[in-house]
Amino acid sequence: MTFSLIDSAAGRALRRQGETMRQRHLRELFAADGKRFRHFSLSSGSLLADFAKQRIDADSLAALHALWHEAEVPAWIARMRNGEAINHTERRAVLHHALRHSGAEPILCNGRDVMPEVRRVLAQMERFCAEVLDGRWRGARGEPIRNVVNLGIGGSDLGPKTAYQALSACHPPQLQVHFVSNLDGAHLATTLQKLDPATTLFVIASKTFTTQETLQNARSARDWLVATLGEAAVARHFVAVSTNRAEVTRFGIAAENMFEFWDWVGGRFSLWSAIGLPLALGIGFDNFRAFLAGAAAMDAHFFDTPVERNLPATLALLEVWNTDFLGAETRVLLPYSQSLELLSHYLQQLEMESNGKQVDRQGLRVDYATAPILWGEAGTNGQHAFYQLIHQGGRLIPCEFIALREADYPLPGHHDKLLANCFAQSEALMRGKTLEEVRAEMQAAGLAATEIDALAPYRVFPGNQPSTTLLLPRLDPHSLGELIALYEHKVFVLGVLWNLNSFDQWGVEFGKQLANRLLPVIEGTADADGLDSSTAGLIAACRKIP
Ligand code: F6P
Repeated sequence: MTFSLIDSAAGRALRRQGETMRQRHLRELFAADGKRFRHFSLSSGSLLADFAKQRIDADSLAALHALWHEAEVPAWIARMRNGEAINHTERRAVLHHALRHSGAEPILCNGRDVMPEVRRVLAQMERFCAEVLDGRWRGARGEPIRNVVNLGIGGSDLGPKTAYQALSACHPPQLQVHFVSNLDGAHLATTLQKLDPATTLFVIASKTFTTQETLQNARSARDWLVATLGEAAVARHFVAVSTNRAEVTRFGIAAENMFEFWDWVGGRFSLWSAIGLPLALGIGFDNFRAFLAGAAAMDAHFFDTPVERNLPATLALLEVWNTDFLGAETRVLLPYSQSLELLSHYLQQLEMESNGKQVDRQGLRVDYATAPILWGEAGTNGQHAFYQLIHQGGRLIPCEFIALREADYPLPGHHDKLLANCFAQSEALMRGKTLEEVRAEMQAAGLAATEIDALAPYRVFPGNQPSTTLLLPRLDPHSLGELIALYEHKVFVLGVLWNLNSFDQWGVEFGKQLANRLLPVIEGTADADGLDSSTAGLIAACRKIP
């Protein structure tokens, strides 16, 4: 019998509890249980998650735990770890955890241990990073590399870019890494205008090596380089990261300059593979190993911890609770860390490309909501932009705060204020402010009764906005590895609960297909026959531009 989120016994219990919980306010829950923090917080390694401000009680949490068992999540974890082709629409195993596995045990895919290959590529990356960073790798004019430009998009861009920015405190002084993803030539042109071809190294990062954006950027980058240094320079200034050896060779990159990964690594889970090469160059290989070790620590926690204390499991169950039983359509990520500014972009792909789906594992249309819309911004910037809507816009918006106990850039006077703002926001969103409280506050401030009557309604905050706060000791390679792996496992659990294949992305294909069809029309080599009038009109308007 296939598991059904809505019709399972736990799902039915959760529906009833959801109805009850919709009538309750977080204030009441805090008043009823003075130890909510103790009852509703968890830790794993260096991470602490406080979910006391979620709209749950002991009963709903117990029902969520029952859901985990009824959906047989532990059996799905075992399938993933055993290398079964759980990405059934692409007939692929899902083994990104092997990329950070440092133990002696084999990890099998189709009966073959993948670990020797993983170790081989890691060793190749390590050698390469050392050569580039200590200046032994020279460009065509004999100069050391000073800038690395990663050309990739989606999973071949977002992970290393996010982590590189997050770990800026680890950047070696002699090397800067840049990330170019967009097909818009402005991205490449504005990046290259600051760089010297003689000291620039390009990493073409593409799992398939067929992605239009990346290949166009790679061709233009190559033209830029060759114009100054000549064709022979390509070998010293281009390396590739891919699963597609044939296409890499066709591009003219020598076998020894290719860093391989495998089809059992999904693009949005590939940060730990050779796709992490620009990150490894940008933080040094020892730090890259620490990053992998952090993720491995989270793997061990996820694989071996009962659901009641399992952090990725708990975050996933809370997301299902908010989305499918309380009716939230969105979740906002609010890292109180400028260094984590790009995390919401990274998680948008990880979560929405993985679980933004409407057809289940049996090919049937689901009758429940799947991945919520994820958005976000670093605090405190968001406070001066969209928090107004979270506080008073009337929608249910589960919030996820991330805070660091220690600042990565400890300027006097900053960090305590940052923490105060972070915790104040989650408190305000939980508690709200009633009309009576507003009136009392205004009276105490000496305002006239007419003014109080006129303005008090605007100053009411409904509160009851659920949030989780993740606390990291500090932002370093290890804790960042833990954090990102936490989200990966959360996505996996959600896929099981929603009965989805989280590892394909057919939704991306349609637009690509149509773009290929429109290109000759835009170039003027095909006519617009059969196009709808809007699309044809837009193309005609562009082609009139001299
Ligand atoms: O957006 C679709 C997608 O296939 C992603 O899953 C992937 O990360 C991205 O395109 C880039 O693909 P590639 O690494 O093959 O160039």
